[in-house]
Amino acid sequence: MPAPSATALLDWYDIHARRLPWRVPPEDGKLGILPDPYRIWLSEVMLQQTTVAAVKSYFLDFTARWPTLQALAAAPRDEVMAAWAGLGYYSRARNLKACAEAVARDHGGRFPETVEGLSTLPGIGPYTAAAIAAIAFDVPAAVVDGNVERVVARLFALDTPLPDVKPEIRRLTATLTPERRPGDFAQAMMDLGATICTPKRPACALCPWSEPCLARRRGDAETLPRRRAKAERPTRYGTAFVARRYDGALLVRRRPDKGLLGGMLDVPGGDWQEDTVPDAQPPFQADWKSAGEVEHTFTHFHLKLSVQTVEVGDRPPPNGCFWLDAAAVAGEALPSVMQKAVGAATGASARRPRRHVPK
Ligand code: ADE
Repeated sequence: MPAPSATALLDWYDIHARRLPWRVPPEDGKLGILPDPYRIWLSEVMLQQTTVAAVKSYFLDFTARWPTLQALAAAPRDEVMAAWAGLGYYSRARNLKACAEAVARDHGGRFPETVEGLSTLPGIGPYTAAAIAAIAFDVPAAVVDGNVERVVARLFALDTPLPDVKPEIRRLTATLTPERRPGDFAQAMMDLGATICTPKRPACALCPWSEPCLARRRGDAETLPRRRAKAERPTRYGTAFVARRYDGALLVRRRPDKGLLGGMLDVPGGDWQEDTVPDAQPPFQADWKSAGEVEHTFTHFHLKLSVQTVEVGDRPPPNGCFWLDAAAVAGEALPSVMQKAVGAATGASARRPRRHVPK
């Protein structure tokens, strides 16, 4: 039985590489065209916990507005946060900005070229450091994301469940990674996992590693990688108070920098709790009306928010809150869950024509 070779995978990648806006395609790479580390870094941070399909338009928007690291470092933080709205996991956007500033300030505007150097920067963990080092600087680092875990677990028929099997996967990925074209190799692994070695019904007949793949030989590729049974995602309950002023302005607060949705805007409401629907206090006394319920799934819990709404005249915002102009509501850094709550309230408002709110 042949051992899996990097060459077989790279030959496959030369023909089947996905065309992605941050990528230097293999034929250009062979002509000596180098990837822009800024674009590789930006794409890798955006791709943490988000799909390629969701990232593409954000990547194009960011690179059109801020074509260089220096431009992003100099951009107002609120603009960057607003441009990120909808991508989720907002601490990534804060780290993105902090990282751009650190590279501009401490590294003369150039990214460090080693895994260790990259790891010192905000928002760059072991995976992202390895990915940037390999793709942007041709360092033969082992790049292991979810797709690569699946490919390697199958290739070597690893029965130990995730996450316990991770060190073994890392070790095996390192042995496979070539000295030549390690960046293309890492991206080829990702593409193989995304297009051929898919979680369900892998297309083994089209796979460049079908011969050496031990799980395919055994006939149980689809069942790998195994996972330790995980606790169910709990449901939390809360209330969102959507107050609209006569001119369409929305009553909002800024969330603390640390924690879930850190630094983003939200509408007033009480704590989110499991099991019970908490009795939240409205930001001011008024004739609040129910606008139904919206739901949102975060990584560690599912949220059901009961939406209360009211329209008021000219009144000062209560402590800790401010009125956000109607025009700004669409462009602001309002996280998806809050957009849903505002959408429910606006849709429920019978007295006013529907204004534009983001989905
Ligand atoms: N996921 C994370 N990084 C990626 C990349 N460079 N190409 C494709 N998918 C990815």
